[in-house]
Amino acid sequence: MIIAIDGPAGAGKSSVAKACAKKLGFKCLDTGAMYRSVAWLEVQEGVALDDDDALGQLARSCTIAFQHEAGNPIARGVSINGHDVTEAIRTAQIDKAVSPVSAAGQVREALVEEQRRIASGGDYVIEGRDIGTVVCPDAQLKIFLTASDEERAHRRVRQNADRGVGSIDYQEVLADIIRRDEADQNRGNSPLKPADDARVIDSTGTYIEDIIESICVLAALVQEGQEA
Ligand code: DC
Repeated sequence: MIIAIDGPAGAGKSSVAKACAKKLGFKCLDTGAMYRSVAWLEVQEGVALDDDDALGQLARSCTIAFQHEAGNPIARGVSINGHDVTEAIRTAQIDKAVSPVSAAGQVREALVEEQRRIASGGDYVIEGRDIGTVVCPDAQLKIFLTASDEERAHRRVRQNADRGVGSIDYQEVLADIIRRDEADQNRGNSPLKPADDARVIDSTGTYIEDIIESICVLAALVQEGQEA
């Protein structure tokens, strides 16, 4: 079974996806980490952000690997071409570079192919922007998770503070979230939008635990063959 969790930056997708995967015994795939890893490589190699062919070549030829501790389906880290980039992909520099990189058609083509290959390997909760619309249009459960700009910025600041990486300046984070939403929603290629059959959940002012619980209930209904 595939559960697609899409939505804008800072809506709580990562926490929700990981917790649901843990509860359901599914594997979890963070597709944003894949775009961020390619953006990290782009910065290292100095590839021009408007060179679709070169960016595509980078995405097709790289190896992205998620590290797992034995028996834990939630990745503890990610590497690209053998470099551990778990923390390096969360910096403000990569927050900026990832929008143009993820808008490049050939990058999307390469990563979507890889994501579909991974998704064919069992039960997955997959989080991103285009999982329900493009990567797994046949996903049995599609969630579009959103929240107000301000709440998303507050959550991202807390997350960055916890991780010790990325900006903890609220105004800077808010401006970046709004900029990235615009870029994600207005790009020609796989823009951020809910699938027609997605359940839209607004998490503003809601306990994340309640959202996790309702998604797990929906997943159980789907697994039992009942209409969720
Ligand atoms: O989920 P995130 O913020 O880590 O994602 C980083 C960027 O990658 C985000 O700005 C949009 C892009 N992205 C995408 O275009 N498609 C996905 N499936 C996942 C992320």
